Amino acid sequence: GVVRSLHRTLCLCSKLAMSQVVVRDPDVLERKKASIRDAGPGKLQVIADFDGTLTKYWCNGVRGQTSHSLLQQGNAEYDAKRQALYEYYHPLEISPTIPIEEKTKLMEEWWEKTHGLLIEGGLTYDAIKKSVADASITFRDGVVQLFEFLKEKDIPVVIFSAGLADIIEEVFRQKLHRSFKNIKVVSNRMQFDESGRLVAFKGKTIHVFNKNEHAIDMAAPIHDKFGSSDSSDVNGTFVKDRTNIVLLGDGLGDLGMSDGVSFEHRIAVGFLNSNIEKSLKDYSEAFDIVFLNDAPMWGVVDLVSELC
Ligand code: TMP
Repeated sequence: GVVRSLHRTLCLCSKLAMSQVVVRDPDVLERKKASIRDAGPGKLQVIADFDGTLTKYWCNGVRGQTSHSLLQQGNAEYDAKRQALYEYYHPLEISPTIPIEEKTKLMEEWWEKTHGLLIEGGLTYDAIKKSVADASITFRDGVVQLFEFLKEKDIPVVIFSAGLADIIEEVFRQKLHRSFKNIKVVSNRMQFDESGRLVAFKGKTIHVFNKNEHAIDMAAPIHDKFGSSDSSDVNGTFVKDRTNIVLLGDGLGDLGMSDGVSFEHRIAVGFLNSNIEKSLKDYSEAFDIVFLNDAPMWGVVDLVSELC
Protein backbone atom coordinates (compact mmCIF):
# COMPACT_ATOMS: atom_id res chain seq x y z
CA GLY A 1 0.00 0.00 0.00
CA VAL A 2 2.71 2.45 1.03
CA VAL A 3 4.76 1.61 -2.06
CA ARG A 4 1.77 2.02 -4.34
CA SER A 5 0.77 5.36 -2.84
CA LEU A 6 4.36 6.55 -3.04
CA HIS A 7 4.43 5.47 -6.70
CA ARG A 8 1.19 7.37 -7.34
CA THR A 9 2.59 10.49 -5.68
CA LEU A 10 5.77 10.26 -7.71
CA CYS A 11 3.78 9.86 -10.95
CA LEU A 12 1.67 12.88 -10.06
CA CYS A 13 4.76 14.94 -9.24
CA SER A 14 6.48 14.04 -12.50
CA LYS A 15 3.28 14.76 -14.43
CA LEU A 16 3.04 18.14 -12.74
CA ALA A 17 6.66 18.87 -13.53
CA MET A 18 6.19 17.95 -17.18
CA SER A 19 2.88 19.57 -17.90
CA GLN A 20 3.18 23.32 -17.87
CA VAL A 21 -0.47 24.07 -18.47
CA VAL A 22 -3.81 22.90 -17.11
CA VAL A 23 -7.09 23.69 -18.89
CA ARG A 24 -10.10 22.65 -16.85
CA ASP A 25 -12.65 22.73 -19.66
CA PRO A 26 -11.24 22.91 -23.21
CA ASP A 27 -14.72 23.19 -24.78
CA VAL A 28 -15.64 26.23 -22.70
CA LEU A 29 -12.29 27.80 -23.54
CA GLU A 30 -12.76 27.22 -27.28
CA ARG A 31 -16.25 28.77 -27.13
CA LYS A 32 -14.93 31.84 -25.30
CA LYS A 33 -12.12 32.19 -27.86
CA ALA A 34 -14.58 32.02 -30.76
CA SER A 35 -16.88 34.66 -29.21
CA ILE A 36 -13.99 37.03 -28.51
CA ARG A 37 -12.59 36.54 -32.01
CA ASP A 38 -15.99 37.25 -33.57
CA ALA A 39 -16.39 40.50 -31.61
CA GLY A 40 -13.03 41.78 -32.91
CA PRO A 41 -9.97 43.43 -31.32
CA GLY A 42 -11.90 46.69 -30.72
CA LYS A 43 -13.81 44.93 -27.95
CA LEU A 44 -10.79 43.35 -26.26
CA GLN A 45 -8.59 44.49 -23.37
CA VAL A 46 -5.97 42.77 -21.25
CA ILE A 47 -5.90 43.21 -17.48
CA ALA A 48 -2.73 41.95 -15.82
CA ASP A 49 -1.29 41.68 -12.35
CA PHE A 50 2.40 42.62 -12.14
CA ASP A 51 4.44 40.71 -9.51
CA GLY A 52 4.69 36.98 -10.19
CA THR A 53 2.47 37.35 -13.27
CA LEU A 54 4.36 39.57 -15.72
CA THR A 55 7.55 38.95 -13.74
CA LYS A 56 9.17 35.60 -12.99
CA TYR A 57 8.69 33.99 -9.60
CA TRP A 58 12.24 32.67 -9.77
CA CYS A 59 15.01 34.87 -11.12
CA ASN A 60 18.48 33.32 -11.64
CA GLY A 61 17.87 30.70 -8.96
CA VAL A 62 16.57 33.09 -6.30
CA ARG A 63 13.02 34.26 -5.58
CA GLY A 64 12.24 37.14 -7.91
CA GLN A 65 11.71 40.41 -6.07
CA THR A 66 8.46 42.36 -6.07
CA SER A 67 7.97 46.09 -6.46
CA HIS A 68 7.82 46.24 -2.64
CA SER A 69 10.59 43.86 -1.77
CA LEU A 70 13.20 45.32 -4.13
CA LEU A 71 12.98 48.72 -2.49
CA GLN A 72 15.97 49.82 -0.43
CA GLN A 73 15.23 53.16 1.14
CA GLY A 74 18.86 53.98 1.74
CA ASN A 75 17.95 53.90 5.42
CA ALA A 76 18.83 50.54 7.01
CA GLU A 77 16.63 51.06 10.05
CA TYR A 78 13.52 51.60 7.93
CA ASP A 79 14.35 48.76 5.53
CA ALA A 80 14.55 46.48 8.59
CA LYS A 81 11.23 47.77 9.93
CA ARG A 82 9.49 47.03 6.61
CA GLN A 83 11.11 43.59 6.50
CA ALA A 84 9.78 42.85 10.00
CA LEU A 85 6.29 43.81 8.84
CA TYR A 86 6.69 41.45 5.86
CA GLU A 87 7.70 38.59 8.16
CA TYR A 88 4.65 39.19 10.34
CA TYR A 89 2.00 39.89 7.71
CA HIS A 90 3.00 37.79 4.67
CA PRO A 91 2.19 34.45 6.40
CA LEU A 92 -1.22 35.93 7.26
CA GLU A 93 -1.72 37.02 3.62
CA ILE A 94 -1.23 33.46 2.32
CA SER A 95 -2.76 31.56 5.25
CA PRO A 96 -5.42 29.14 4.00
CA THR A 97 -7.36 29.36 7.30
CA ILE A 98 -7.92 33.08 8.00
CA PRO A 99 -11.28 34.31 6.61
CA ILE A 100 -11.07 36.88 3.83
CA GLU A 101 -12.73 39.72 5.84
CA GLU A 102 -10.18 39.31 8.58
CA LYS A 103 -7.35 39.15 6.03
CA THR A 104 -8.62 42.32 4.36
CA LYS A 105 -8.32 44.21 7.68
CA LEU A 106 -4.84 42.81 8.25
CA MET A 107 -3.72 43.79 4.75
CA GLU A 108 -5.05 47.34 5.25
CA GLU A 109 -2.96 47.56 8.40
CA TRP A 110 0.13 46.22 6.63
CA TRP A 111 -0.10 48.56 3.62
CA GLU A 112 -0.81 51.61 5.82
CA LYS A 113 2.19 50.84 8.04
CA THR A 114 4.51 50.20 5.09
CA HIS A 115 3.46 53.37 3.25
CA GLY A 116 3.91 55.29 6.54
CA LEU A 117 7.45 53.95 6.96
CA LEU A 118 8.36 54.91 3.38
CA ILE A 119 7.31 58.50 4.05
CA GLU A 120 8.80 58.69 7.56
CA GLY A 121 12.08 57.10 6.40
CA GLY A 122 12.51 59.76 3.72
CA LEU A 123 12.31 57.71 0.50
CA THR A 124 13.70 59.56 -2.52
CA TYR A 125 13.18 59.01 -6.23
CA ASP A 126 16.92 58.41 -6.56
CA ALA A 127 16.67 55.51 -4.10
CA ILE A 128 13.95 53.98 -6.32
CA LYS A 129 16.18 54.21 -9.40
CA LYS A 130 19.09 52.62 -7.55
CA SER A 131 16.89 49.87 -6.03
CA VAL A 132 15.53 48.90 -9.46
CA ALA A 133 19.05 48.86 -10.92
CA ASP A 134 20.18 46.46 -8.15
CA ALA A 135 17.03 44.29 -8.12
CA SER A 136 16.52 40.62 -9.02
CA ILE A 137 13.47 41.16 -11.16
CA THR A 138 12.87 39.85 -14.69
CA PHE A 139 9.90 39.83 -16.99
CA ARG A 140 8.79 36.39 -18.16
CA ASP A 141 10.08 35.53 -21.61
CA GLY A 142 7.53 36.63 -24.19
CA VAL A 143 6.17 39.61 -22.19
CA VAL A 144 7.73 42.17 -24.54
CA GLN A 145 6.38 40.30 -27.57
CA LEU A 146 2.96 40.19 -25.91
CA PHE A 147 3.00 43.96 -25.32
CA GLU A 148 4.23 44.61 -28.87
CA PHE A 149 1.54 42.44 -30.39
CA LEU A 150 -1.17 44.19 -28.33
CA LYS A 151 0.20 47.61 -29.23
CA GLU A 152 0.06 46.79 -32.93
CA LYS A 153 -3.54 45.73 -32.54
CA ASP A 154 -4.39 48.86 -30.46
CA ILE A 155 -5.45 46.71 -27.51
CA PRO A 156 -5.07 48.39 -24.11
CA VAL A 157 -3.36 46.69 -21.20
CA VAL A 158 -4.19 47.65 -17.63
CA ILE A 159 -1.53 46.57 -15.14
CA PHE A 160 -3.29 46.31 -11.83
CA SER A 161 -0.99 45.95 -8.84
CA ALA A 162 -1.09 46.17 -5.07
CA GLY A 163 2.58 47.10 -5.32
CA LEU A 164 4.00 50.52 -6.14
CA ALA A 165 3.26 52.23 -9.48
CA ASP A 166 6.39 54.39 -9.46
CA ILE A 167 8.56 51.30 -9.09
CA ILE A 168 6.72 49.30 -11.76
CA GLU A 169 7.21 52.17 -14.20
CA GLU A 170 10.90 52.42 -13.29
CA VAL A 171 11.22 48.65 -13.94
CA PHE A 172 9.75 49.24 -17.41
CA ARG A 173 12.22 52.04 -18.05
CA GLN A 174 15.29 50.14 -16.86
CA LYS A 175 14.51 46.58 -17.93
CA LEU A 176 12.64 47.22 -21.19
CA HIS A 177 14.12 50.64 -21.99
CA ARG A 178 10.79 51.74 -23.29
CA SER A 179 7.19 52.49 -22.49
CA PHE A 180 4.07 51.36 -24.31
CA LYS A 181 1.36 53.91 -24.96
CA ASN A 182 -1.33 51.24 -24.68
CA ILE A 183 -0.34 50.33 -21.10
CA LYS A 184 -1.81 51.94 -18.00
CA VAL A 185 -0.53 51.15 -14.50
CA VAL A 186 -3.21 51.19 -11.78
CA SER A 187 -1.32 50.85 -8.50
CA ASN A 188 -0.25 52.80 -5.42
CA ARG A 189 1.21 56.05 -6.68
CA MET A 190 3.66 58.27 -4.79
CA GLN A 191 3.78 62.01 -4.54
CA PHE A 192 7.23 63.64 -4.30
CA ASP A 193 8.17 67.18 -3.29
CA GLU A 194 10.49 69.42 -5.38
CA SER A 195 13.55 67.88 -3.77
CA GLY A 196 12.46 64.37 -4.83
CA ARG A 197 11.35 63.19 -1.36
CA LEU A 198 8.22 61.11 -0.89
CA VAL A 199 5.54 63.14 0.93
CA ALA A 200 2.32 61.18 0.39
CA PHE A 201 0.51 58.47 -1.54
CA LYS A 202 -2.22 59.48 -3.99
CA GLY A 203 -5.74 58.11 -3.66
CA LYS A 204 -6.99 55.05 -1.81
CA THR A 205 -4.59 52.27 -0.95
CA ILE A 206 -4.74 49.19 -3.17
CA HIS A 207 -3.85 45.96 -1.34
CA VAL A 208 -4.09 42.33 -2.43
CA PHE A 209 -7.70 41.85 -1.36
CA ASN A 210 -9.37 45.06 -2.53
CA LYS A 211 -8.43 45.07 -6.21
CA ASN A 212 -12.13 44.57 -6.98
CA GLU A 213 -13.05 47.88 -5.29
CA HIS A 214 -10.46 49.70 -7.36
CA ALA A 215 -11.51 48.04 -10.57
CA ILE A 216 -13.72 51.07 -11.15
CA ASP A 217 -10.58 53.19 -11.67
CA MET A 218 -10.19 51.40 -14.94
CA ALA A 219 -13.37 52.97 -16.22
CA ALA A 220 -11.23 56.09 -16.61
CA PRO A 221 -9.66 56.53 -20.03
CA ILE A 222 -6.29 54.90 -20.43
CA HIS A 223 -3.23 57.10 -19.99
CA ASP A 224 -1.31 57.83 -23.16
CA LYS A 225 2.07 57.84 -21.42
CA PHE A 226 3.25 56.77 -18.01
CA GLY A 227 2.06 59.20 -15.39
CA SER A 228 0.26 61.58 -17.69
CA SER A 229 -3.45 61.47 -18.19
CA ASP A 230 -4.96 61.95 -21.57
CA SER A 231 -8.64 61.99 -22.35
CA SER A 232 -8.73 59.07 -24.73
CA ASP A 233 -7.11 55.68 -25.04
CA VAL A 234 -5.21 54.40 -28.06
CA ASN A 235 -8.14 54.79 -30.39
CA GLY A 236 -10.57 56.87 -28.40
CA THR A 237 -12.33 53.90 -26.83
CA PHE A 238 -12.95 53.82 -23.11
CA VAL A 239 -11.56 50.78 -21.42
CA LYS A 240 -14.89 49.99 -19.79
CA ASP A 241 -16.46 49.63 -23.25
CA ARG A 242 -14.09 46.83 -24.09
CA THR A 243 -16.23 44.04 -22.76
CA ASN A 244 -14.03 41.10 -23.67
CA ILE A 245 -11.15 40.46 -21.33
CA VAL A 246 -8.02 38.42 -21.07
CA LEU A 247 -7.10 38.50 -17.39
CA LEU A 248 -3.64 37.49 -16.17
CA GLY A 249 -2.98 36.87 -12.49
CA ASP A 250 -1.10 34.74 -9.98
CA GLY A 251 -3.56 34.89 -7.09
CA LEU A 252 -7.24 34.13 -6.66
CA GLY A 253 -7.76 37.76 -5.55
CA ASP A 254 -6.63 38.83 -9.03
CA LEU A 255 -9.92 37.62 -10.49
CA GLY A 256 -11.51 40.73 -8.92
CA MET A 257 -9.44 42.94 -11.24
CA SER A 258 -12.16 42.74 -13.89
CA ASP A 259 -15.03 43.68 -11.53
CA GLY A 260 -15.09 47.26 -12.89
CA VAL A 261 -16.09 46.06 -16.34
CA SER A 262 -19.40 44.35 -17.01
CA PHE A 263 -17.69 41.92 -19.30
CA GLU A 264 -19.29 39.64 -21.88
CA HIS A 265 -16.47 37.10 -22.16
CA ARG A 266 -13.42 36.69 -19.98
CA ILE A 267 -10.55 34.27 -20.36
CA ALA A 268 -8.74 34.12 -17.01
CA VAL A 269 -5.16 32.91 -17.08
CA GLY A 270 -3.47 31.99 -13.79
CA PHE A 271 0.20 31.50 -13.00
CA LEU A 272 0.41 29.08 -10.10
CA ASN A 273 3.77 29.81 -8.52
CA SER A 274 3.71 28.18 -5.09
CA ASN A 275 1.78 25.60 -3.02
CA ILE A 276 1.08 23.83 -6.31
CA GLU A 277 -0.33 20.56 -4.98
CA LYS A 278 -2.62 22.32 -2.49
CA SER A 279 -3.81 25.07 -4.80
CA LEU A 280 -4.10 23.43 -8.23
CA LYS A 281 -7.72 22.42 -7.68
CA ASP A 282 -8.83 25.94 -6.65
CA TYR A 283 -6.82 27.55 -9.44
CA SER A 284 -8.06 25.23 -12.17
CA GLU A 285 -11.65 25.90 -11.07
CA ALA A 286 -11.17 29.68 -10.95
CA PHE A 287 -8.97 30.22 -14.03
CA ASP A 288 -9.66 28.93 -17.56
CA ILE A 289 -5.96 28.23 -18.08
CA VAL A 290 -3.35 27.60 -15.38
CA PHE A 291 0.38 27.77 -16.12
CA LEU A 292 2.75 25.91 -13.80
CA ASN A 293 6.51 25.87 -13.23
CA ASP A 294 7.09 29.59 -13.73
CA ALA A 295 6.10 29.22 -17.39
CA PRO A 296 7.03 31.85 -19.97
CA MET A 297 4.41 34.15 -21.53
CA TRP A 298 4.47 32.38 -24.92
CA GLY A 299 1.23 30.53 -24.20
CA VAL A 300 -0.50 33.88 -23.68
CA VAL A 301 1.10 35.30 -26.85
CA ASP A 302 -0.39 32.32 -28.74
CA LEU A 303 -3.74 32.84 -27.03
CA VAL A 304 -4.09 36.53 -27.95
CA SER A 305 -2.94 35.90 -31.50
CA GLU A 306 -5.75 33.38 -31.81
CA LEU A 307 -8.17 36.08 -30.60
CA CYS A 308 -7.35 38.77 -33.15
P1 TMP B 1 0.65 42.17 -6.28
O1 TMP B 1 1.75 42.95 -6.93
O2 TMP B 1 0.60 40.73 -6.71
O3 TMP B 1 -0.67 42.85 -6.47
O4 TMP B 1 0.91 42.07 -4.68
C1 TMP B 1 1.80 42.78 -3.92
C2 TMP B 1 2.65 41.89 -3.05
O5 TMP B 1 3.52 42.74 -2.28
C3 TMP B 1 1.90 41.07 -2.00
O6 TMP B 1 2.10 39.69 -2.20
C4 TMP B 1 2.52 41.43 -0.66
C5 TMP B 1 3.79 42.16 -1.02
N1 TMP B 1 4.23 43.20 -0.07
C6 TMP B 1 5.59 43.24 0.29
O7 TMP B 1 6.38 42.41 -0.16
N2 TMP B 1 6.00 44.23 1.14
C7 TMP B 1 5.15 45.18 1.65
O8 TMP B 1 5.57 46.06 2.41
C8 TMP B 1 3.76 45.12 1.27
C9 TMP B 1 2.79 46.13 1.82
C10 TMP B 1 3.36 44.11 0.41
